[in-house]
Amino acid sequence: MDHAEIVRLLTCGDPAAWSDLQIRSDRVRHDRVGDEVHLRGLVEISNWCVRSCHYCGIARFNQGLSRYRLTRSEIVDAARLAQTLGYGSTVLQSGEDPQLTRGFIRDVVTEIKETTGLAVTLSLGERSRDDLEAWRSAGADRYLLRFETSNSVLYQRIHPPLRAGEPDRFELLKWVKDAGYEAGSGIMVGIPGQTVSDVATDLLLFRELDLDMIGLGPYIPHPGTPLGETGVDPGAADQVPNSEAMTLVVLALARLLCPDSNMPATTALATLNRRTGLERALQHGANVVMPDLTPQRFQSQYEIYPGRGMIPVDDVMLRHRELLSRLEAIGRRPGNGRGDSVAHLRRRDAH
Ligand code: 5AD
Repeated sequence: MDHAEIVRLLTCGDPAAWSDLQIRSDRVRHDRVGDEVHLRGLVEISNWCVRSCHYCGIARFNQGLSRYRLTRSEIVDAARLAQTLGYGSTVLQSGEDPQLTRGFIRDVVTEIKETTGLAVTLSLGERSRDDLEAWRSAGADRYLLRFETSNSVLYQRIHPPLRAGEPDRFELLKWVKDAGYEAGSGIMVGIPGQTVSDVATDLLLFRELDLDMIGLGPYIPHPGTPLGETGVDPGAADQVPNSEAMTLVVLALARLLCPDSNMPATTALATLNRRTGLERALQHGANVVMPDLTPQRFQSQYEIYPGRGMIPVDDVMLRHRELLSRLEAIGRRPGNGRGDSVAHLRRRDAH
């Protein structure tokens, strides 16, 4: 599949072609990564952020938001909860928060690895090479950093740098790989100013970067942000819609291009369509779900987009049982073990 073919599929809007894409992506998902859905306990460890990304509700300019940072024992307890629920891994995610020091994260990772044996994924923003290496040495297994869009003009517009000459996210992803992590990245679909051609380039980049994990969700405008206030102009030439349908087509194409990567049914998709967004993502190539295990009282404060923290059922066990029955209803089962990326295992065995 080349760039022109991807653009054609993204723009054809032909229900038969899109349905064919869904069927093919579901088959490739089944054949290459199986019917297991790997569950990752998501712990949002801090909503402090030094960045001013124009799309994000927890950016530093959002002064209406109360800020929190979990303690070491709160984080470790949440990881234990993931283990109790039978999950194979935990994801520690935060804004870009320098108070989460190299030593603090190192100690947290060490304790989680010692007490639970879970695979640990970090998603803490743009950090130094020394931080990344130290956390990898402490036992962290995976690192997530979306590049958001490969259109560098658009990216620079919505992601102001902290200082001149800082490494870009592609450079950081290279450090992540060099340090021996499983590397994850991804994009938002439907950023104002993002064209269909941009998304086709993003998809080809997923393959070129040989990613272990690919996360993609619809861009959801946040009214407290610069981008949320200008809004998506649906009339703009070649603008990618930030719709559920478009996100699912992009996901299906990602599965065809990167058959061995792990791909979550993202919360953003499930937020757009609370009733069946999860199922539809899992039927368009996704094979991972990241249930939120952040202590309840903080969840609503991690509002990167509206509706993010609104979880209809507040009891963890109830939510867990509901998830299992939703998986079962579509013929899928929760994964056993860590759910390492097939791509990563293959690369490791080749060495
Ligand atoms: N809508 C959808 N996704 C968003 N993210 C940040 N802000 C938004 C938004 N308004 C995504 C980014 C980031 C990830 C953690 O959340 O892709 O990398």
